[in-house]
Amino acid sequence: MRRKTGEYERNSLAGEEVEAFIPYRLPPSEPPLQLDGDLRGLLARAEEKLRLLDLAGDLVPSVEWFVYAFVRKEAVLSAQIEGTQATLMDLLEVEASGEAPTNAGVEEVCAYVDALNFSWNELGRKTGLPISMRLLSQTHRRLLSGARGGQKQPGDVRRSQNWIGGTRPGNATFVPPPPHRLGELLSDLERAIHEESTLPPLVRVGLLHVQFETLHPYLDGNGRLGRLLITLLLRHWGLLSRPLLYLSLFLKTNRQEYYRRLSSVRSDGDWEGWLAFFLEGVAVVADEAVNTARRLHSIVDESRDRLLARDDATVFSIRLFEILPEHPILTVNRIVDLLSCSRPAAAKALRVLEAAGILRALDDRKKNRTLVFANYLDLLREGTELLA
Ligand SMILES: Nc1ncnc2c1ncn2[C@@H]1O[C@H](COP(=O)(O)OP(=O)(O)O)[C@@H](O)[C@H]1O
Ligand SMILES: [Mg+2]
Repeated sequence: MRRKTGEYERNSLAGEEVEAFIPYRLPPSEPPLQLDGDLRGLLARAEEKLRLLDLAGDLVPSVEWFVYAFVRKEAVLSAQIEGTQATLMDLLEVEASGEAPTNAGVEEVCAYVDALNFSWNELGRKTGLPISMRLLSQTHRRLLSGARGGQKQPGDVRRSQNWIGGTRPGNATFVPPPPHRLGELLSDLERAIHEESTLPPLVRVGLLHVQFETLHPYLDGNGRLGRLLITLLLRHWGLLSRPLLYLSLFLKTNRQEYYRRLSSVRSDGDWEGWLAFFLEGVAVVADEAVNTARRLHSIVDESRDRLLARDDATVFSIRLFEILPEHPILTVNRIVDLLSCSRPAAAKALRVLEAAGILRALDDRKKNRTLVFANYLDLLREGTELLA
């Protein structure tokens, strides 16, 4: 399918002629989206898998665990897509230490978790901001709050020309709209979210992500914020009542195709090709998230049985066990804080869980050792290791 999706505007920049791309407003027209055959099937499957994921959230007894874990998984994966060097283990270790991150990558991931929680909660708050550029800019401010983002105008729509790929606009893969056009283009983007439409919401989510990336409204963080926008839109349109879909797993695994599909919307007007890719991703990840939640649950159940069968199980060891899914990495110091208990009681609880094969030492340090809920973490971190 070929169609024209925008115009080029010639500008001179640093003595060079630059062709910036100005996308037409959504939805695609001339011709309108062709939601037939394969695409209809992909859409139905993605909707169904997403519904099952949402339902799984209602059925599992401790959905907060999965929200906690999956939000972090998404944060790490989304940051990794653009090369952030931090893993899920790095993030959880920093959180367990209770100290501020010293590594820029982990700091970025922490900022992502904060940005997601903030914006997700805004949508749920009666007097919170609706999905809008105001909300996105406030979210962006949090997202780029770390050392690396500081110089990239956190919270502000850019006032200068940017580009993607290449060393300067003149040899870039793609030059987004010049700053003087952004005001009007971003109002159109807001309108596309809030206007009446006959298109299925999940399709609109896919279109809006691309449009956001094409506008590239900020100096940095557009990829992460655009993926966060997907999560927010799923909530906005009632497709997901908790942030459980870590779509970035699919986008990271298929990164080259992800970028290529974004480009072909612009160059060939191939919205349908992008949507097929996007809907496939939603279905695959929703399915895998349901399975992961189930398997994590059975790891917890089976571990609990093992603990309760032991003669040396103490009250504190049982209480410690119950908080493990949200604190899968622990030290004695941390347990003292979490359970408000004495050091000997904390050390004993830890020893019991270690003897039961539930906690495993992360290193062979003797003092203030770090222990992890190994089976749980091994499963959770699938796909979150760094790209080779
Ligand atoms: N060819 C392309 N066309 C449009 N968008 C693209 C293209 N290639 C990459 N992108 C988007 O740009 C993002 C990178 O932009 P950037 O502002 O650096 O975001 P971040 O700092 O969050 O990684 C990618 O994650 C992707 O979403
Ligand atoms: Mg970047």
